[in-house]
Amino acid sequence: MYNGVEYKERLDRIRKLKIDFLQNGLKDEELLSCPYLDRKIAASWIRSRSMGVNPYAQVIGQHLNCSELESIREKNRMLIEIAKPLFVKFKNLATSSRYGIYLFDKKGTFLLHEGEMLELPLDKDPFSGMMWNEETVGTNAHSLCALYKHPVQLVGPEHYCISLENLIVSAAPILNESGDVIACLVLGQLITNTSWDEVFQGFCLQTLGLITALAAAVEAQLKLRKSYNNLKDVNDNLITANKTFEATLSLIDEGIITVDKTGTITCANREGTRILNLSQDEIGKRNIAEFLDAQSRLMDIIKKCKNTEVEETICNGNEEQTFIINIRPVIDHRTKKLKVAVLRLSRTKKINALVTSRSGATANFTFEDIIGESEAILHAKDKAKRFANSQENILLIGESGTGKEIFAQAIHNSYCPEGPFVAVNCAALPRELVESELFGYEGGSFTGADRYGRPGKIELAEGGTLFLDEIGDMPIELQAVLLRVLEDKKVMRIGGRRYKKVDFRVIAATNKDPHKLVKEKIFREDLYYRLSVLKIIIPPLRERGRDAEILAQYFIERYCNKVGRKVPQVSPAVVKIFNEYNWPGNVRQLENAVLYAINTSRSDVIEPKDLPVEIYETCLYESDNVTKNRKRYDDLDTILKLDELEKIAIIKAITKTGGNVPEAAGLLGISKSTIYRKIKEYDIKPPEFSG
Ligand SMILES: Nc1ncnc2c1ncn2[C@@H]1O[C@H](COP(=O)(O)OP(=O)(O)OP(=O)(O)O)[C@@H](O)[C@H]1O
Ligand SMILES: [Mg+2]
Repeated sequence: MYNGVEYKERLDRIRKLKIDFLQNGLKDEELLSCPYLDRKIAASWIRSRSMGVNPYAQVIGQHLNCSELESIREKNRMLIEIAKPLFVKFKNLATSSRYGIYLFDKKGTFLLHEGEMLELPLDKDPFSGMMWNEETVGTNAHSLCALYKHPVQLVGPEHYCISLENLIVSAAPILNESGDVIACLVLGQLITNTSWDEVFQGFCLQTLGLITALAAAVEAQLKLRKSYNNLKDVNDNLITANKTFEATLSLIDEGIITVDKTGTITCANREGTRILNLSQDEIGKRNIAEFLDAQSRLMDIIKKCKNTEVEETICNGNEEQTFIINIRPVIDHRTKKLKVAVLRLSRTKKINALVTSRSGATANFTFEDIIGESEAILHAKDKAKRFANSQENILLIGESGTGKEIFAQAIHNSYCPEGPFVAVNCAALPRELVESELFGYEGGSFTGADRYGRPGKIELAEGGTLFLDEIGDMPIELQAVLLRVLEDKKVMRIGGRRYKKVDFRVIAATNKDPHKLVKEKIFREDLYYRLSVLKIIIPPLRERGRDAEILAQYFIERYCNKVGRKVPQVSPAVVKIFNEYNWPGNVRQLENAVLYAINTSRSDVIEPKDLPVEIYETCLYESDNVTKNRKRYDDLDTILKLDELEKIAIIKAITKTGGNVPEAAGLLGISKSTIYRKIKEYDIKPPEFSG
């Protein structure tokens, strides 16, 4: 490096060179090849001149407006925050030795300054809102420093503007993590008229090192702060994610717990803690094994690291319940070993309820759906309502189609509508399947069995009703097993090792006389007594007075509303048939007859001939009134009044058309409304139509 004298000489030469360049036409190439002016500085002079910077101006730089300045400051907020304490520390040194320290953004905007260089010909608050770059002040240290990304020192006349010739300025870049210049830290010293030697020897050369070190410190802190902020962001995001996760888990009404590879419970949602009867501070301390049966293989299965599903009984100290446990292992991405396993505990009861509801085994009817006003049906309904409230088994006895199933469903819906209603028709199942259907089986217990096993209808009825229809047809050997289940309230699957507690109510139904079955040894007496604690006899339709008529009207309206059809009238003759027919198939037969009639009838009135032929014919046969009447009218030999004749004509026409009133009207040549009016007027009764 130069010593002080050489330096001064060199600066004098540079000063002269600048005059030659600015005033005497020194060519660019000559300037660039000048041995005592740094080539980069020479190039900057040339740029400054070509950009039209006035080297003699007194007030230099460009003022930014407030909003521009505000946005630049905001962009560099963190940098300013970091540099500020350094500037404050520097303050004393700066003022006493006429130093100024400055922070510029990469475009040359003053961000911070401290210290004074009093003789600078600038405004009152000279730096606030000023932009100093090559374009506005010509060659300067921080612009070169930002351009070449390394520390730069400019001494006196090396600056382009004459007003900056009394300064020694050292600038060091501050780089971001990608190595781009984001700002420059600048140390300026005012050259006084005292000796140059003093200045150089005392300070000049060290200032560049000093400012470079400071810039490095700011840069390091900036990086630190940024990574800290990033970490804080990551942490905030993690906290939010965790909270969202916890909220989600708490909304899941199934138990979710995680266990580590030793079985320690590491996490549990609200339902999970409820199932295990755990307090929050027991999490991390208790082991899942404490809640399982000694023979449980759950941990072995978990360690296999496969997504699986098992059924387990969990005992939380107070109660024992079975759960389907879904296992999802979480593997450590580094060790590739099991880290934790997430377990979802779903109540078997709930799953079973879902299965049964999906399979359509739901109870839809309530007592309100049991239509009828007869004393007999009201009595049966009343009894059923009272029995529904007890937990005892119920036996329904009634002829075919009397409504045993609808009663069973109504009882279920009145007692435990939330629980499953599982119906088993003992007569419809092949003998060899009844057992597995009722009791279920373990995986692989017989050929053709499901690999994972299957719960039986008894298990599926847990918490609800098992409707054993046609109980009289249950194989006698199974009756013994069923009796035991009813007594012990526990069941073992075929091929199973252990009993499972079950809680359900049986509603059994039969259309046979149970006493007779017991006598014939087709039905076990003990089972009969067990089931018939509460017995309801559902009366046949023929014992229900006018209920047939009421039910028929109900079925007609229900059907027509369903298919969007006009509700037809029912002729009095048909009403009479409904009320008097024997109905061996009871309500079901009545319903079928009504649907048949609606679909057969071609008019707005249902007539006897619209009914199924067996009903219609039986009525004809049974109605001896008809024959009597017919005789009376055929034997007429006396003169009758006109209206009597009219009545006879109508009866004859109706009889001829087989009860079809509109057709009879056609035969008589009168309108439909007239014939109906006359029927009413002459009080023609339905049996008189027939025949
Ligand atoms: N009182 C009633 N009110 C309304 N509908 C009824 C009534 N009784 C029976 N039903 C209807 O009649 C039909 C037969 O009823 P259900 O199946 O309950 O009889 P069931 O006694 O179980 O017959 P089965 O002995 O043949 O099994 C069903 O469509 C049912 O909806
Ligand atoms: Mg039935």
